Amino acid sequence: MSARHFLSLMDYSPEQLSSLLRRGIELKALRDRGVLFEPLKGRVLGMIFEKSSTRTRLSFEAGMIQLGGQAIFLSTRDTQLGRGEPVADSARVMSGMLDAVMIRTYAHSTLTEFAAHSRVPVINGLSDDLHPCQLLADMQTFLEHRGAIKGKTVAWIGDGNNMCNSYLEAAVQFDFNLRIACPEGFEPNPAFLALAGNRATVMRDPREAVKGAHLVSTDVWTSMGQEEETARRLALFAPFQVTRELLDLSAPDVLFMHCLPAHRGEEISLDVLDDPRAVAWDQAENRLHAQKALLEFLVAPAYQPA
Ligand code: CP
Ligand code: NVA
Repeated sequence: MSARHFLSLMDYSPEQLSSLLRRGIELKALRDRGVLFEPLKGRVLGMIFEKSSTRTRLSFEAGMIQLGGQAIFLSTRDTQLGRGEPVADSARVMSGMLDAVMIRTYAHSTLTEFAAHSRVPVINGLSDDLHPCQLLADMQTFLEHRGAIKGKTVAWIGDGNNMCNSYLEAAVQFDFNLRIACPEGFEPNPAFLALAGNRATVMRDPREAVKGAHLVSTDVWTSMGQEEETARRLALFAPFQVTRELLDLSAPDVLFMHCLPAHRGEEISLDVLDDPRAVAWDQAENRLHAQKALLEFLVAPAYQPA
């Protein structure tokens, strides 16, 4: 199938990614000025969720409506996908009726398989491996607050999870240095580490990782699907909590990001989201603007009048 997809940051060139970020900023300004902009009138996005979501569902659904289109929420609990209809069959059927499909799933192979049989663009709304839409929002947020991230130092503190893997891809595509501080045994997938090459370093000491960093980012210690490991993870990750004192070791103009949802008292201290260096609320709002830019790029413009 020849549709263009967005399963990973590596699907696009650095130039395409930069222009998406700039477009996200423009679309944000349009909305702030109250300008109606509906290039996707009559277009429909299907949103398949195998896992919970607040931001991803809302930003895609609101984004489609604001662009003049519609979005349909499809939980695997209620569709035949959840009763074993093959992914390839579902892709053939759904892509005959929809203009794009967003999928939040467990195995990344569900996304690649769906995309291989889809006539329309498929967007990764999070898999066990990657969360590229969140990185669009994170990179847009950095650009708005501090300008280009090229050549800067980013510290990832905590689990080498799907978000960390996407930060590794971002290090390649946006050309920054990534220091990852994680407990032994919780390193990111070696394939993503290899991709980042000498742009990425794995460390054990979060203080060393944040030293002089321009961006510090973290995420939950237990991702969706890992709930049974929660108690073990709580104990192992305790030294990796991001606190105001930890941020004090970073660059004076450091930004702190968290993709949310946050667990205060676990990966972050009770007060760190209230710190002026934290930009998590802007980051969450930018999911909307960045993904509107992505939808505009991926979904064909409005139908012509008959
Ligand atoms: N950050 C993020 O993807 O949030 P949701 O799980 O609420 O979609
Ligand atoms: N790593 C987290 C991100 C949630 C947005 C998870 O996969 O649950």
